[in-house]
Amino acid sequence: MALDDFRDELASTAAALAAPGTGLLAADESTGTIGKRFEAIGLDNSEANRRAYRTLLATTPGLAEHISGVILFEETLFQDSSPLPADGNNGNAAAGSTPIIQLFQQQGIVPGIKVDQGVEPLAGGLSGESWCTGLKGLAERAARYYDRGARFAKWRAVLQIRADGCPSELAVRENAWGLARYARTCQEHGLVPIVEPEILMDGDHDIATTASVQEWVLRTVYEALAVNGVFLEGSLLKPSMTTAGADCSSRPSADEVGEFTVRTLGRTVPAAVPAILFLSGGLSEEDASLCLNAINQAAAQGFAPWHLGFSFGRALQHSCLKHWGGKDGPAGQQALMARARANGAASRGAYAAGSEPSDDSSLFVANYTY
Ligand code: 13P
Repeated sequence: MALDDFRDELASTAAALAAPGTGLLAADESTGTIGKRFEAIGLDNSEANRRAYRTLLATTPGLAEHISGVILFEETLFQDSSPLPADGNNGNAAAGSTPIIQLFQQQGIVPGIKVDQGVEPLAGGLSGESWCTGLKGLAERAARYYDRGARFAKWRAVLQIRADGCPSELAVRENAWGLARYARTCQEHGLVPIVEPEILMDGDHDIATTASVQEWVLRTVYEALAVNGVFLEGSLLKPSMTTAGADCSSRPSADEVGEFTVRTLGRTVPAAVPAILFLSGGLSEEDASLCLNAINQAAAQGFAPWHLGFSFGRALQHSCLKHWGGKDGPAGQQALMARARANGAASRGAYAAGSEPSDDSSLFVANYTY
């Protein structure tokens, strides 16, 4: 099949993912990363526990009201759910033999799949710089994921800001090109690509420095997408919010994050892109919601043709994991719904600080890997 065969479908999938008041649940932690989350709550990283946790996410009643799509790890895409308690979460007592993907689909949540295969050191780059792997065999994998029901994909490229000249031009160009090759390949197989050039929060740089680096990165990404003929109406952007480094002595307010982020995006992201869905990047649950809210409020004052939503991992799941703790009962799902509601409201610029419960721990992890 060629990209032209999928144009209409790609545009309608992207539009569904960009529904007002919604965002994505990034639940595509690799087996290693979910293991770290489980360790923090005293659970083994067993297949049974991963299955039980992702079943809990998929059966959260009402989740589709605020969550338009979910990003899965390959194991989950092909995994059956765990048996549910006799009283039947979500009224679906027969979920034991149901593929997890089907539980999301039954709620009206579009399933997606992480397709990158992680980052590796960038030969010729500065120390710590990386490039993102996974292009080899991607066409075949994308076709298999589509057959299984996935309709969008994610590829996370990682850049960092450092006083020694990071990111290097090599890192910016290599990661932009990798994102563009991935995006084109996915579109030829019916998957909407989420283009994710993450800029880590590590460092003590100020918000203005982040803004100028991010403008350069996004300009380079959209140039590479153009050279590769990527169909922008059938693509989504997942950037970091424009904020200061985690160790910067002057912390920007949520309003400053909102203004800088909208300015950065307005200067670089084509209006044809239907939605910009931010990663949470180590912000606490409440801070991520407040910044997203401020971004939408700043957008309402100026030029912003895209839906500005979320594609959070840590900032949607942190309380949920803690309240779940591997036990039966609704506490985990209630915590997930609280943050889903908060971020749904923030996507409309209508979130009132503290109006939903959260855990205010910092979720920042130095040199974060997914
Ligand atoms: P965080 O929201 O935890 O940064 O992760 C989102 C994600 O999917 C990173 O690729």
